[in-house]
Formats: sequence, C-alpha cells, structure tokens
Amino acid sequence: MERGEWRRGLWFCFSISLLTCLLSGCPPSEVPVTVDEVVGIVTDTSAKVFLQTGPYAADGAYFKMGYDTSPHEADRDYPLETPPELAVRSGGRLVLSIPGGLTPDTQYYYRIARKNSLQSDWIWREEGRFHTRRAAGSPFRFCVLSDLHLGRPPFPEPKTKIAQNVASDNPDFVVSLGDMLTFCNQGHGIPVECNFAYLQYILGGQQATFAAYEDAISQVLNEFTHSSMLLWVNGNHEGLAGYLTPCLERAWILNSRNRYLPLLNHADPFGFYGDLVWGDVHIIWLDPLAFSTYDPYQANQPQGYALGTAQAAWLEDTLAESTSRWKLIFSHTLFGGAGPDFPCAPAGSYARGNVNFVDTPGTDQNYIQYLMESYGVNAFFYGHDHMYSVSEYPGSSVKYVLVGSGSVSGWTSCLVPYYQPWAVINDQIGHLRVDVNEDSLVVHYVKAALDGTNGTILATHEIVPPPPP
Ligand SMILES: [Fe+2]
Repeated sequence: MERGEWRRGLWFCFSISLLTCLLSGCPPSEVPVTVDEVVGIVTDTSAKVFLQTGPYAADGAYFKMGYDTSPHEADRDYPLETPPELAVRSGGRLVLSIPGGLTPDTQYYYRIARKNSLQSDWIWREEGRFHTRRAAGSPFRFCVLSDLHLGRPPFPEPKTKIAQNVASDNPDFVVSLGDMLTFCNQGHGIPVECNFAYLQYILGGQQATFAAYEDAISQVLNEFTHSSMLLWVNGNHEGLAGYLTPCLERAWILNSRNRYLPLLNHADPFGFYGDLVWGDVHIIWLDPLAFSTYDPYQANQPQGYALGTAQAAWLEDTLAESTSRWKLIFSHTLFGGAGPDFPCAPAGSYARGNVNFVDTPGTDQNYIQYLMESYGVNAFFYGHDHMYSVSEYPGSSVKYVLVGSGSVSGWTSCLVPYYQPWAVINDQIGHLRVDVNEDSLVVHYVKAALDGTNGTILATHEIVPPPPP
C-alpha cells in the first residue's frame, strides 16, 4: 500500500468510525496523525528508526516497532518488538531503538504500530526496511541527491519524482549532498547581516524552521526515508556557514536539524563532517563553510572555502587509518574552486568548478587532492553546480563526480565551456545511483520526469581501483 493510500485509508476508517459513532455512541476520539519514518542509525547489530510525529501527535499516543527477517512477506509476523514509547505533542520526533542483537549484513523488515491510549488497539503502519552493516565483499547500492532547493510547499512534482525514483532503487543509504532546504542566501555576512542572509520565511522564527524540515521530510524525503538511512551534508544554502554563527537564525536551524534528522556517526558535535564504513566503502563527508570566518563569495576570495584546523586534522587522520577498499569523499562544493572574479553568474568566488579548478592558488582543494592521491581516495563527489559531469584530475586516478541536480538552472550554460573537455548534463534533473561491486563502482545518473522518460539512465561512469604502483 502506498503511503498516500494509507492516509486515505485512515481517513476512510475515520469517516466510518464517525458515522458509527453518531449512530451508536462515540468511543474515545481517534485523531488522524501525520507520522513519517526516518531510518536513522544502523550498525552491525543495532538500529534506530526516527518517527517524525509532527504537531499532530496526540498526547498519550504510544508507538512501538516490530521487526522480522523473513524474506517472504507472507511469512512475516514481526515476532520481535521494541517496548512501547509515549509520544508527546511538543516532541516532534520519537526514536524507536533496537539496542542490539541484530545479525550483521542482514535485511530486516519492520512495522510501526500506534495506539492512542493504553486501552485501545494497536494500529499497524505499512512495512519499511533496513539492512544492517554490510560485510566486506558484500555488494550494495547507495544513492546521492543534491540541490533540490526545497522552499515552501507545495513542492514541484518532479522533485517528489526524484525521491520516488530513489525509493525504487532500494538503496542502503542516501547521501543528501546539500542545498536540499533553502534557508539562506550567500552573498551577505561581512559584517554579518543576518536579516539579509536568511530568506524571508526564516523571519517566521523557530517554528518556521521546524516546519521547513517537517515539510521536506513529510512531503518529499519520506518517499525513501522509511527504508534507507539518510546521511545529511550541508550546502551553502542550508544556513549553517561558520561566518553566520552570530545569527540567531543559525541556532534555529541547528535546533531543527537535531529535532528531525538523525546525526549519523558524525565526528563533530554539530554534524558538519564525519564518516561511515559500509561494506568495502569508506564514506567521508566534509563541510567547506562550517569553519569559514567570512563569506568567500562576498569577499571574492576562494580561499574562504576552508577545511579549518580541526576538520583538516580529522580528515588526514581518518584517511591515514582507513583500510577500506573504496574511499569516497563527499562535499557540497570544492574547497575553493573557480575564482576570484570568475565571470559566470553567480560570479566571483562561488566555489564552482571541476578538475580544471582544483589548482586555484591558496585553496584547500590542492591539499585535499594531495591527500586523496597519498591515501588512495577513488572519488570526490560534489554538487552545487546543478549539473552532472565526471572529470579526472590529470596524473591521478581521482574522479571528480558532479552528482547531478534536483534543479535545472539557466546560469549553468555559462559554466559549460569552462568544464571542457569533460561533458556535462545541465538540462535534466535526477539522482545518482551508485552500485558498489567487487571490482568497480558504477555510477548512473537517473532522470526524473513526469512522462515516460522517467527513470532513464542519462549517463554511466565506472570507477575502478588505481593500478598498482
Ligand atoms: Fe549550493
């Protein structure tokens, strides 16, 4: 049953109950609630599912989770359960946790149940899935989304289609590579001009930022979050740049992220950078603006997209200790990129670029490239430029994968000549599917559309290990 059908079914049952109630006397009221599951932190033997209960969760409602490993749906009766947890109206989310005892590298199926009081019956929701951590050598799939730029609902239908296509891929996890939510305009901040830096709806206060995350999850991301982990990487529009620290709005966004999104194995307390080892892959994600002390776009200084001391030390230590077959770095932008005075709009130092812009003097991308070559990193995945393109740094085997976009933008036509000889796709929206195989990573750029071309593979690249020295 589709989620929308589940809700319509609930309303149908509610209507029948109301009619019965009018004829024969009303039992305690059954309040329809909006609840969306986000598969949170899954390890070898444990799992957490975050319930986004929203503002409609009635006080006194209980939730629990049953889980099963039977591959055939007809055999699944979810014999193991978490204890019932009480939801509170002000909570915004509830975490159902399986603290241990799961089997590594195993597919699990779960269902959430709810009841509005201890006396009422459990109402079971539809099934979700999670897979415990893959073992070395186990093939799997993950997906990458970038630059959906979700503003205020209703969201354009093709963006929901992207999320539905991700769900069809059934990935173990999804990397959100930034600018999923558009809170903030870059181009202000010297000195900090909070009211100009943040978009007008942020003036609605903390409740508006809560609502933005809630809308994004419940209307787009919930297409896949019930069955895939969500790994959240900041973009320049998510309003969490270091130079915006004095702004009250930044604290609202941090509060909202902590309320609605799982922080997955992050290395720092705010979730700006971190890593995940899954099967043969070591995923490392970074933030080019978390430690910026000024807005590099406003200042026209690409060096402002900087690692910072703590993130740089962590990155080098993490790469030095990594024993994974595949090492992949994810960042919304290059650490520097084009500029200063790059002519394409948005102009100046806006961290545009592919391998042609790695060597911008004084930028940390030079250092990251050095580390990637030294420690055998296979690819640097990034977004921000609203295109798909794969380029290879000269003299190394490091691929720069511009992951495609959830937005088509007219300004990308200015970028295309600067990215040659590497081909780009700048007129189609979609997501990146990554298949991790024993001897290669295969990336597909998958088109999202409202017609029969939906799901078309627009481009494919294979990434293979570097030859032995
Ligand atoms: Fe961006």
